[in-house]
This record gives sequence, structure tokens and C-alpha cells, in this order.
Amino acid sequence: SSPKGRIDFENVTFAYEGAGGDPVLKNVTFSCLPGETVGIIGSTGAGKSTLISLVPRFYDTISGTVKVDGVDVKELDPALLRNRIGIVPQKTILFSGTISDNLRYGLASATQEEIEQAAVMAEAHPFIATFPEGYATRLGQKGVNLSGGQKQRLSIARALIRRPDILILDDCTSALDTATETRIKESLKQYAQGVTCLMIAQRISSVMDADKIIVLDDGEVVGVGTHDTLMASCRVYVEIFQS
Ligand code: GTP
Repeated sequence: SSPKGRIDFENVTFAYEGAGGDPVLKNVTFSCLPGETVGIIGSTGAGKSTLISLVPRFYDTISGTVKVDGVDVKELDPALLRNRIGIVPQKTILFSGTISDNLRYGLASATQEEIEQAAVMAEAHPFIATFPEGYATRLGQKGVNLSGGQKQRLSIARALIRRPDILILDDCTSALDTATETRIKESLKQYAQGVTCLMIAQRISSVMDADKIIVLDDGEVVGVGTHDTLMASCRVYVEIFQS
């Protein structure tokens, strides 16, 4: 079968309803090829989270088209579309239950082996293995206390368990030290080969090695390219780099 996970934004304009109609995204155009890692950089409020929310069609565009594998998302069954997309939100939400329950997150069919594989990919396995009860360790009110970075790694594992074609990371590595972040990215490259990855980041260092980086400024794409290209051509990118 042909590789999956291509994303195309074609002249996408979007505004939240009742927000005075002011567009949050203006004429956004870019493509992610299957298996590419694409970074999204921009100041706070630039529209990064809004942009990624249009891939699983959480909202409809005002004009322009979002396509997954060449098909307008409006033509796709939303449940099937969302099944193919793993999203790791900015804020990790864990519930009272075991680590396994939290990783499975309703995916009853996931085997212990699949759970562990996902945890290995997300660099969560090593710390889980230090708990006496391992994957049966309880989280939540009466459970163990995890660090922000450990929670983020569980959240990434939760998304990977579903074997998505597209993985969206919404600034979810900010609580990780650079070394852990690098290990997760290397592990994703190795194990999640062929998965298209859209990655919002605060730090340029998080997306420096991406296949391409999209620079958003006040809802507009002001640069698309590799780190080196953008350093040489995109003022906003250089400003973020220097800040
Ligand atoms: P950070 O997460 O702070 O880095 O920002 P971002 O680049 O992800 O921007 P985001 O897409 O979250 O927001 C862009 C603009 O849309 C901002 O002006 C937000 O206030 C606005 N916005 C975001 N979510 C909503 C929403 O659910 N409703 C409305 N009305 N406005 C929203």
C-alpha cells in the first residue's frame, strides 16, 4: 500500500465563531509528506494549536481546504479520520487508574506487549519499570506522583498505542529536558517510521532537525523550510531563535 499521512493546507482561513470574525488563520498553505516531521513555531497566540486542530477537523475552515491523503477532510468520516490521528495535547490528562489503563485509554484491544512497545517508544518504559508494580501502578488521587515530564511521556505513549498515520504533538515536550526530548525523537524516528509528525514547539532546538519548519506569525505563514534556510531568510524565525 502507498504511504499514508500526507497533509495539505490550501489557502486555509479560519475564525472562531463569535470572536468578532477576526481570522486566527489567514491563507495558510503548506504540505507534509507521508513520514515527514514538520515543526510549527510561532509566538504565543500565533495560531499554532488552532492550525493543528483543523487536521482532525475539530472545526471547519471559513475558506480553503485541509486534505489528508489528498482528500478534503470534509469528505471523510470524522471517526475514521480521527482514528488515524494521534494527538498529544499541551496539558496531559491522566485519570485515576493504573498506568496500563491510562495508556490504553479505552482501547480495550491493546495487549500488554503493545502497551509496553508504545511506552518504550515514548521513553516512558524505564521509569515505569522502576515502580514495584510496574504497569499496574496506580495513578491519580491515591496513586504515585509523576513529574511533568513523566506525564508527557505517558501522554505520547497513549497516542502511539493507536498506531496513528499522523502524530500531532502540541508543545508537549516543553517539560522534558533536552536529552530526554532528543531520545524520544530518535526513538520515534526509529520505531514510528512512516508516521507523519506535526510538532508544535516553543524552543527552536526542539524542531531544528525537522524535515521542515512552518513559522506562524499572527495567523500567517511567514516561513517554511529547514532550520538553515529559515535562519538565512525568515526574520521572525531568527527573532525566535535569538529570544
Ligand atoms: P500558544 O499555545 O499560547 O503558544 O498559542 P498558539 O499559537 O497555539 O495560538 P492558538 O491557536 O491557541 O490561539 C490563536 C488565537 O485564537 C488566540 O487569539 C486565541 O485567543 C484564539 N483562540 C484559541 N482558542 C480559541 C477558542 O476556543 N475560542 C475562541 N473564541 N478563540 C480561541
